[in-house]
Amino acid sequence: MGMLDGKVAIVTGAGRGIGREEALLLAREGARVVVNDVGAALSGSSEGDSGSTPAQSVVDEIAGAGGEATANRDDCSTWTGAQGLVNQAIETFGGLDILVNNAGILRDKMSFNMDEAAWDDVIRVHLKGHFAPSHFAATYWRSRSKAGDKVVGRIVNTSSEAGLFGNAGQANYSAAKAGIASMTWVLARELERFGVTVNAIAPRARTRMTEQLFATGATEGFDTWDPGNVAPVVAWLATDEAGSVNGQIFVVFGGSIWLMAPFAPVGELHSDTRWTVDGLVAKSAELFGDRSTSVPPFAIPF
Ligand SMILES: NC(=O)c1ccc[n+]([C@@H]2O[C@H](COP(=O)([O-])OP(=O)(O)OC[C@H]3O[C@@H](n4cnc5c(N)ncnc54)[C@H](O)[C@@H]3O)[C@@H](O)[C@H]2O)c1
Repeated sequence: MGMLDGKVAIVTGAGRGIGREEALLLAREGARVVVNDVGAALSGSSEGDSGSTPAQSVVDEIAGAGGEATANRDDCSTWTGAQGLVNQAIETFGGLDILVNNAGILRDKMSFNMDEAAWDDVIRVHLKGHFAPSHFAATYWRSRSKAGDKVVGRIVNTSSEAGLFGNAGQANYSAAKAGIASMTWVLARELERFGVTVNAIAPRARTRMTEQLFATGATEGFDTWDPGNVAPVVAWLATDEAGSVNGQIFVVFGGSIWLMAPFAPVGELHSDTRWTVDGLVAKSAELFGDRSTSVPPFAIPF
């Protein structure tokens, strides 16, 4: 018995890296999986894998282990691609219960060196690539709910600490990932009335996206950078048991899971009339109190 027996899942960008591990684990837990991957190079260009089908090899792996899956090569960041993806789940497996938005690309440049295409492509693949499948999944779940069916829907988005804290050299990527965090709260509020939860992870793992950063190997038997370490959190959020967890963001790496606080006010200045510039110059230290006025740091590990 798997924790996800009878469920139908989509994982975008599941041909390799973190998404592949998520698709494999969802299938091991009993879900039938639509393995989506356009087969892009890390930069998003199609050259990297032209002719090869990473989605199909993951489907073969799932089938080889006794699971059920189907490959989809649509670009999840286009409206028609996202619609085709959701339709394929419904037509092939009879419905949709779990959507894991994971597909992504990188085109890092400092803001002064970034060109328009690097901005547009990264924003599109991540932000629209999360929204478009969510839109069609939400449309499906809403219509089922309105028809009187009991819906247990799950969306798990993929943000990044780059988005939660802002990483130099990644204006496009960080902005998209911050947008995904914010969109997670929006979708969580909108869809809970239909029985759908929406949460996000901000993973850290060694994949082609980060192999320069996290080149470290296994340490004493547990490889903390293994992308497979991320998948159990996604599978947990997909279970019926996680039905009360909604609109939450988790940093996930190795054996660590951080529950992240949303933006919150940490200081206040109040006046019963409009502030003047002079007045703000005089009072700004009061707004900050003991807090630093410098750019906030990345989260300090526990
Ligand atoms: N690896 C990390 O440490 C890390 C850290 C923070 C966030 N993330 C996020 O995790 C997700 C997975 O990253 P990864 O490290 O496994 O990278 P990866 O490059 O190994 O995998 C990403 C996959 O997405 C696919 N893809 C790209 N554009 C697509 C599109 N338009 N439609 C369908 N598929 C598409 C690629 O072909 C690739 O197989 C990304 O959203 C990434 O931003 C990763």
